Amino acid sequence: MTRIVVATRSAHKLREIRQILSPYAGLELIDLDDAGIPESPGEDAVEAFETFEENALAKARYFAARSPLPVLADDSGICVDVLGGAPGVRSKRFSGRTDLGGSELDGANNALLLERLSGVPESERTGRYVCAAAVVLPDGIEHVSVGTCEGVVLNQPRGAGGFGYDPLFLVPEAGATFGELSPADKDRLSHRGKAMRALGEWLAHALDGSPGNR
Ligand code: IMP
Repeated sequence: MTRIVVATRSAHKLREIRQILSPYAGLELIDLDDAGIPESPGEDAVEAFETFEENALAKARYFAARSPLPVLADDSGICVDVLGGAPGVRSKRFSGRTDLGGSELDGANNALLLERLSGVPESERTGRYVCAAAVVLPDGIEHVSVGTCEGVVLNQPRGAGGFGYDPLFLVPEAGATFGELSPADKDRLSHRGKAMRALGEWLAHALDGSPGNR
């Protein structure tokens, strides 16, 4: 069994990643608190780059420097074509409401997204969720996998599942929003599911101890 630190303090994110990586039986995923890495004032400022890959890698490196274990980190968001790829890497802080958190922050972000898209016809509301998943091993070896999921931003929410922009994000191949899908169906189609499964495959080879497999 290999213990891996998931660079998150969100129970929701850890649960989602644990579920996606559950087929990889040799991996035991623990969060930053369980790894005994105390919260530091600078840790949120690490994700300051313009790409998901750079942010995920920066976060994994930051915590790898504070742990003897392999560290896995992800960065994700939604990119809307007609908005030039926004909110993109700023998805979480899109609304600028630093006073809010959890579902209240999600509500403010969703309201702003709808406002920015008001009057835009459905055929032009295309975009994608993107997730970059990075791992840094104790010997310094690094790897990043990216997953995407194409969709359309609706003009009103549908479904109460998921989090963030999920009730607005229609996945045409499923005929449903992420807010309407079961967690298992979301994982199968989602950006995070695709990125994490690719990372799981890489880890399964990299952790078998033979550097040639990396
Ligand atoms: P992160 O935790 O820095 O990766 O921020 C991700 C942000 O992107 C979240 O706060 C959401 O606003 C958005 N996001 C990323 N993935 C999802 C998803 O699967 N569903 C809904 N929103 C997501």
